[in-house]
Amino acid sequence: METADRASAPVVVAIDGPSGSGKSTVSRAVAARLGLSFLDTGAMYRAMTWWMLTNDVDVDDADAVAIACGKPVIVSGTDAAGPTITVDGQDVSGPIRGPEVTAGVSAVAAVPQVRTRLVELQRGCAEVAEHGIVAEGRDMGTVVFPDATVKVFLTASEAARAERRAAELRAKGVDEATITAMAADLARRDAADSSRETAPLTQAVDAVLVDTSDLTLEQVIDRIAALVQDRQVRTGA
Ligand code: DC
Repeated sequence: METADRASAPVVVAIDGPSGSGKSTVSRAVAARLGLSFLDTGAMYRAMTWWMLTNDVDVDDADAVAIACGKPVIVSGTDAAGPTITVDGQDVSGPIRGPEVTAGVSAVAAVPQVRTRLVELQRGCAEVAEHGIVAEGRDMGTVVFPDATVKVFLTASEAARAERRAAELRAKGVDEATITAMAADLARRDAADSSRETAPLTQAVDAVLVDTSDLTLEQVIDRIAALVQDRQVRTGA
């Protein structure tokens, strides 16, 4: 897209990165700071997985998942102050974070028909976002929003990511054995998300790499907000 087109297009901030890079927290905070909508696309893949499990579809059977994936009505509320996710009208924000969904989501997210359906919903969310949107996931900059105003690839060392996740879980009172098992599962999911054939996690050529290992949350938010504001000044958006 030419610069002139970008200037008139709504602001889209595409943020990608692996689990534990701080994507969700950062993206939501950037959206709140800039008055934009916020979309957690991982929650949509989780919602699809929750529906499959609830309806006894074998998540490891890609053909069965492909056939069923048009059925659930998945709706994302994109207010950065209180994002929501429903499936067939039911609030699933709690259940989609549970261990069954977490264990099954990489397999469901690897099914091309699932991705086609959810990418369409994601673009729809951006179209109706009044002031623009911050969208986070694995393929925002590469597939879903190739003409995004700003693309960021958030990363953090494996040690920093594991430590953050462990701290979050400890704060919730989770025991150490479970924390170790969840770290192994996180590594497995990252490997699966990066090696799948359709839309693997990869940095877009025009994305800005932000390594959060040694930055505070506030520093990361400042950095991304500055990137967006700089881009808007340069394009007059
Ligand atoms: O960000 P998360 O852990 O909630 O994501 C859940 C899963 O969905 C994860 O295994 C990667 C996958 N995902 C994806 O394939 N594409 C996206 N745009 C977002 C998430």
